[in-house]
Amino acid sequence: MANEVFQRVEALITEIENATAGNAEQVEAFRIRYLGTKNVLKPLMGEMRNIPNDQKRDFGQLVNRAKEVAQAKYDALQAATRENAGADAGAKLDLTAPAEPLPLGSRHPIALTMRRIIGIFERIGFTVAEGPEVEDDWHNFTAMNTPEDHPARDMQDTFYVAAGMPAGPDNADMLLRTHTSSVQARTMENNRPPIRIIAPGRVYRNETISARSHAQFHQVEGLYIAEKVSFADMKATLLHFAREMYGDKTKIRLRPSYFPFTEPSAEMDIWWGLESEHDYRITKGTGWLEILGCGMVDPEVLKNCGIDPEKYTGYAFGMGIERQAMLLYNITDIRLMFENDVRFLKQFAGVL
Ligand code: PHE
Repeated sequence: MANEVFQRVEALITEIENATAGNAEQVEAFRIRYLGTKNVLKPLMGEMRNIPNDQKRDFGQLVNRAKEVAQAKYDALQAATRENAGADAGAKLDLTAPAEPLPLGSRHPIALTMRRIIGIFERIGFTVAEGPEVEDDWHNFTAMNTPEDHPARDMQDTFYVAAGMPAGPDNADMLLRTHTSSVQARTMENNRPPIRIIAPGRVYRNETISARSHAQFHQVEGLYIAEKVSFADMKATLLHFAREMYGDKTKIRLRPSYFPFTEPSAEMDIWWGLESEHDYRITKGTGWLEILGCGMVDPEVLKNCGIDPEKYTGYAFGMGIERQAMLLYNITDIRLMFENDVRFLKQFAGVL
């Protein structure tokens, strides 16, 4: 009787030693059978009471050995299947498969348009200048010959920044620049002619936001100051720009206009044509599109910035970026450009 129980344990030990497992499930089945809470070795311990006293010690040791063998076997099986799993995964790798594409970003249409404009002027000798977006009244208005009572200074148009004070036209000397013309003043103050710069950047105006206009937008300013610079020089440069930007058959026209900082002043239109209903709409039936403001730098501005107006003359121009980006990329609502919806932005993927 006792002998038979001893034999059952020994048979189990042999069974454990010969056990195999091909995968993780079989290893788990092994663990449940020999090491789990209801394992097959447990009832054998219950047999203890049937073992004669002088054999109890040997029996206990034998059952313990069975447990040890089971644990050792389990560890070995587990290690082996883990290695196999690794080998299997390796075998399944297709090293010839093309790599997953990396998601690439895209350039913003404003940046694209700005880069194009900058490139055109850089190639004819202009260098990029910059100025602050939070500007003082002097550089934005006064130096630019914009008198105290000029409507452009009105609270309606200008965002004033009054540090520690309630904002208002009386105490606010700092503002968000309303045009990049402030960079003209800064450049002329700090450089001697010849000056040939463009100044791209963001500007702000207190305007109602709609599909056509926004309270923040971008401009590129141009300034050329040297001896004997003429209106004809300006016209040739702007025609060159228009043709580089909109095609080499592009026609321009200069309409008389007014800016406080240029005299004479003009606005430049490009001939867009009237071939479609869309052309009618965007040119209001004229075929012409206004692109920029320009003119000969007013002698007052030169004086304000320490440049001798008897010796030097120059021209300046300023153009909005968003309008041109909308033309280039057929964007019908300016607000899209500031919402940063990826469904809009990713349409420019791959555009350089
Ligand atoms: N600063 C003008 C504007 O914002 C544009 C301009 C720049 C006009 C330079 C003439 C010369 O409308």
